[in-house]
Amino acid sequence: MPRKVEISGLSKWFGELEALRQIDVAVEQGEFISVVGPSGCGKTTFLRMVAGLEPATSGTILIDGQPLRGPGNNRGFVFQNDSLLPWRTVLANALIGPEVAGKVGDRERQRTLDLLKLVGLAVLRTTTLLLVEHGLGRQMRSSRSSYSSAVARGDRSRCAA
Ligand SMILES: Nc1ncnc2c1ncn2[C@@H]1O[C@H](COP(=O)(O)OP(=O)(O)OP(=O)(O)O)[C@@H](O)[C@H]1O
Ligand SMILES: [Mg+2]
Repeated sequence: MPRKVEISGLSKWFGELEALRQIDVAVEQGEFISVVGPSGCGKTTFLRMVAGLEPATSGTILIDGQPLRGPGNNRGFVFQNDSLLPWRTVLANALIGPEVAGKVGDRERQRTLDLLKLVGLAVLRTTTLLLVEHGLGRQMRSSRSSYSSAVARGDRSRCAA
C-alpha cells in the first residue's frame, strides 16, 4: 500500500529567494506530524505546496501514490489568517468548500452542522460573522477544514451528494 504522503526532493524558489531546498518527507496513514521552525523558514510555503496552492520548482509530491495535481477535497487546510467572509453567516462560511465544489445538499448541510456542533458553534449558525467574536475564527476554520478530512476518510454516506 502506498504511503499517505510521499515527498521527494521538494524545492521552491520565489524569484531569487530559495525558500525550500530538497525536502524529503514520508507520512503514513494515520500518522500525525508537526513542521516546526523559525519564522520565514518555509513552513507555510511547504504546506501550501502540499495543499496544491503553490507549484513546486522541483521535486514530487505523491498522495496515496498519485502525483499531486492542485487542490483537492482529500486535504484540509487551516489558513494562518481567517480567510472568512464576514458578511456571511457562520453556517454559510463553513459551507464554502462544498459550495465551491457545487455540492450543497441536505447531507452537506447536516455534516457541516455536526462539525459546527463539535467546535461549539452550532448555536451561532445563523449569525453573521461580523457579529461573531473575532477569536472564534479559528474554530470556524477548523470545522471547515474538517469537512475535507471527513470526505478524505471516505465518510461519503454523510458528506457526498
Ligand atoms: N509568494 C511569495 N513571494 C515571494 N517570497 C515569498 C512568498 N511566500 C513566501 N515567501 C518567502 O519565502 C520564505 C518562507 O516563507 P514562509 O511564509 O513559508 O515561512 P514560514 O516558516 O511560514 O514563516 P512564519 O513562521 O513567519 O509563518 C520567506 O522568506 C518569505 O518571505
Ligand atoms: Mg507561516
